[in-house]
Amino acid sequence: MARQVIHHEYDAVIVGAGGAGLMAALEASKRCRVAVVSKLYPTRSHTGTAQGGIGAALGNLEPDSWEWHMFDTVKGGDYLPDQDAVEVMCREAIDVVYSLEHMGLPFNRTPEGKIDQRRFGGHTMELGKAPVRRACYAADRTGHMILQTLYQQCIKQGVAFFDEFHLTDVLVSGGRCAGVVALCLATGELHCFRAKAVLLATGGFGRMFKVTSNAHTLTGDGCSIVFRRGVPLEDMEFFQFHPTGIYKLGILVTEGARGEGGVLLNGKGERFMERYAPTMKDLAPRDMISRAIYREVQEGRGVDGKDYVHLDLTKLDPDVVERKLPDITDFVRTYLGVDPVKELVPVQPTAHYAMGGIPTNTNAQVVADAKNSVLTGLYAAGECACVSVHGGNRLGTNSLVDIVVFGRRGGRHIAESVGKMELPPLPSDALSRSHEEIGRLTSNLGGESAAAIRTELQQVMMDRVSVYREETGLKEALATISTLRSRYRKVEVEDRSLSYNTELQEALELGYLLDLAWATTVGALARTESRGAHSREDFPKRDDANWLKHSLAFATDGNIKLDYKPVSITRFQPKERIY
Ligand code: FUM
Repeated sequence: MARQVIHHEYDAVIVGAGGAGLMAALEASKRCRVAVVSKLYPTRSHTGTAQGGIGAALGNLEPDSWEWHMFDTVKGGDYLPDQDAVEVMCREAIDVVYSLEHMGLPFNRTPEGKIDQRRFGGHTMELGKAPVRRACYAADRTGHMILQTLYQQCIKQGVAFFDEFHLTDVLVSGGRCAGVVALCLATGELHCFRAKAVLLATGGFGRMFKVTSNAHTLTGDGCSIVFRRGVPLEDMEFFQFHPTGIYKLGILVTEGARGEGGVLLNGKGERFMERYAPTMKDLAPRDMISRAIYREVQEGRGVDGKDYVHLDLTKLDPDVVERKLPDITDFVRTYLGVDPVKELVPVQPTAHYAMGGIPTNTNAQVVADAKNSVLTGLYAAGECACVSVHGGNRLGTNSLVDIVVFGRRGGRHIAESVGKMELPPLPSDALSRSHEEIGRLTSNLGGESAAAIRTELQQVMMDRVSVYREETGLKEALATISTLRSRYRKVEVEDRSLSYNTELQEALELGYLLDLAWATTVGALARTESRGAHSREDFPKRDDANWLKHSLAFATDGNIKLDYKPVSITRFQPKERIY
């Protein structure tokens, strides 16, 4: 069956319709013609699952300042974040939250009608003295509300949406980006989008792990495709585990639950975080709490000797639980048959967020080497990007800040730049990679199953590249990934139809996950220190003398070559992280 090709031309194409993509589209569309290409319907994007809040130092309930927010973000990231970028993010967070409010986002309110704010892990007042109320929230549906608000604004603005289009290639020609290719899931046609600017907002890749809070669609499409095109990936070894996933399922139970007063208990009923983080306790950063849970379990203090602990919300006012945490209450009742108002909730760390990704500057322009050289016409924002504001460990609420601040900056930069540009020529072989890859998968008779390879990948990543890591396990993971990559070449897609060929889509996505698991593991093996979410049992200390630097993983001739670049340190010198 012939696959038709359809051509389009736009000033800017945004790939991905989560918060970063929609914010970029909204800004860019004020001055130029914009298309959004998304493999989902926009309102099903993963931003919709972000629960507890968006951090901004509004100071509505307690004194606060963007400098304190900046300090917390740098310290939370174990001094790996680029401080120039963090400053931009924490300063602009305030304005962007008010602008979302003015667009109609229904934030929870204080009795006087201001935006209400709650506590979240690692967010403090006066540089670490005590927890602060900084997370602006809409019950536990903050991401959902951001997504709905931005989508409405984009529709009002006349942005063109190509929904259910799966990215297959990013076109780079003459040292600049010229557009993208995407597969229309409904028809099987290939669509070639020629554009002056492309912004990738394709999200994370938590699906490389067995237990994850990430939706099935989070397979790192944009990251993997540009990696294959020679763009490096930054700080891939840093992958965050959120401490409170629903046991075995990984579905998120928001940190906002602890922000409202919930506590963690081990199998002996002890509030164990008091021992690990005497000041911040259950509101310490996620990397510390996830490690603490693993230690409690390892030392036999999991619940009933198993690999989970309890989240206790039973001491909270039931009305607060029902009103401020309605979604998680519903999830726990539905999936576990547990009533969180009266019973303890079994939780375990769940793979949640990639701190690493496509390197960018603070205008969301992709920078393709250790000298931060801009790749003209290519932008990235949100979880697929690494700007880097999260460093070794992201603070809760800062992903929503990141997507709206850098989505907006990327959109504005595009709007300012494209007026002066001509549409770049397409490379002569613009469609060939997409045709080749799809052709190989749909004509293969190798007999390998994508589902079986994916299961093995998720298991080895969960066992060997998770909260704790060490050399032998990482080497074992690398060997397994290498075997799985060979087997992937023989994957056979039995469904040869054009329309909604989800078997083909899942096979393409598996290829992306294999690339990103590989880059993550290579980076983790090389980094012989412990920093943030990268915790090496064989190198338990942070080593600033040798490792206060960002890693860059380049795909070269079937291998990964690592390079490094310095961290931007402006206001806060690295110190020991005590909470
Ligand atoms: O716990 C949460 O609500 C998650 C928020 C985040 O990842 O920032």
